[in-house]
Amino acid sequence: MAKIRSKYVCQNCGYETAGYLGKCPECGSWGTFTEEKDVKPSETTFSELPDKIPPMKLSEIQMNSEIRMSTNISEFDRVLGGGIVQGSLILIAGDPGIGKSTILLQTSGELCKQNKKVLYVSAEESAGQVKLRAERLQIKSDNLYIYPQTNFELIKKHILDLKPDLVVVDSIQAIYTSDIQSSAGSVSQIRECCNSLMQIAKTQNISIIVIGHVTKEGNIAGPKVLEHMVDTVIQFEGDKYKTYRILRSIKNRFGNTSEVGIFEMSGNGLNEVINPSELFLKEYNQTQTPGSTIIVTSEGTRPLLVEIQALVGTTPYPAPRRIANGVDTGRVLQILAVLEKRIGLNLSKQDVYVNVIGGIDVNEPAADLGIALAIVTCVRDVVFDLHTAIIGEIGLSGEIRAVNHIEKRINEAQKLGFKRIIIPEANDIKEEYTGIEVVRVKRILEAITRGVKPSESA
Ligand code: TYD
Ligand code: MG
Repeated sequence: MAKIRSKYVCQNCGYETAGYLGKCPECGSWGTFTEEKDVKPSETTFSELPDKIPPMKLSEIQMNSEIRMSTNISEFDRVLGGGIVQGSLILIAGDPGIGKSTILLQTSGELCKQNKKVLYVSAEESAGQVKLRAERLQIKSDNLYIYPQTNFELIKKHILDLKPDLVVVDSIQAIYTSDIQSSAGSVSQIRECCNSLMQIAKTQNISIIVIGHVTKEGNIAGPKVLEHMVDTVIQFEGDKYKTYRILRSIKNRFGNTSEVGIFEMSGNGLNEVINPSELFLKEYNQTQTPGSTIIVTSEGTRPLLVEIQALVGTTPYPAPRRIANGVDTGRVLQILAVLEKRIGLNLSKQDVYVNVIGGIDVNEPAADLGIALAIVTCVRDVVFDLHTAIIGEIGLSGEIRAVNHIEKRINEAQKLGFKRIIIPEANDIKEEYTGIEVVRVKRILEAITRGVKPSESA
């Protein structure tokens, strides 16, 4: 008989202690420990361990290529690295209301069209609520089984009975196993259920997608171990006030990470955005003002054109403000320091606001030059050339440093009708471009003089 013991577990990171602690020594959060009763797993003896596969020579290993199911949603397939790998466990995490249930019900519908069997475990909503959503998404299929259940043992039984091609668990925080006495959503429950799901996926060769909620701080609720356990972690991001949503793979054992898929939420579900740059630049041409530039950022392997805006004004505060939306504030501070030291732009009495239009996050240094030029054009009250896109990282001595995927970025700018692109001279480009002038610059000042037309800067 297994021994029942009690322990205290940090609900943020999964750190365990025997007694209550106010502050977690692991992640530093306060008041996150709760008591959990746990069944100590019985020790595995060597005789119980399966020994079907002895150590093998590398040359003896048979390769069986992984089988992928296409979801028929190309943006989702791209993030997954080409489709759902059979027998894999995928975690989709995101804020409440972002559209996790919607995208997975749509995916289920698409797989059913290909005659695949899908079991959708709805632990948060009743069958009626799921049906209502399915009607809205125009999903009708007898291959789709909806199972409103929170008990893991029952869910497991039906997975084994039904043997579906895909199981969706909506959500991992809402299901519980009766092996453990702590409540659903606690770290022990999440870990145990996820572990068992992993075993089902691997032993039965069934693909399983679990939905996970995100905490206020933006972390995936439950311990980091959840992320370590699964094969693929996909983050669903977006501004609740905007209609588009971004799927981003942050871990993928079967594909590229940092790959993104972009969707727009509509009245009947999530639609793929095939050309996202167009979406982000929708309002650009009409609103060109001082302090606005276009950069070509790279999301995963895909280039994306976005507008950066800067606003600089005399500060009413004793300490000037630096507020950055969509870019890292530390990065903006560094750019301001370089601008002051290298081109003598002193903004110590000015507030500086930097914003990425559309609510998307740009977290790569390649955006530096675009940010710097947005600030400079705002200070000098000049308009940056409307048809010029910018790309380049700024070094501390004011030099422009090389960026990756340069050719893809140039092609994307050209595709969207830009006539010029400013790139780092340090980047080697092989192709000759027709239709777009490629301006290669070494230093910030050069980029300013080449980008701002003389007539406008006068
Ligand atoms: P949902 O998938 O329930 O979010 P999650 O599972 O991540 O909590 O989607 C919630 C929002 O999406 C809700 O505010 C309604 C909206 N929505 C649409 O705009 N169109 C649709 O077709 C559907 C199904 C939902
Ligand atoms: Mg939901």
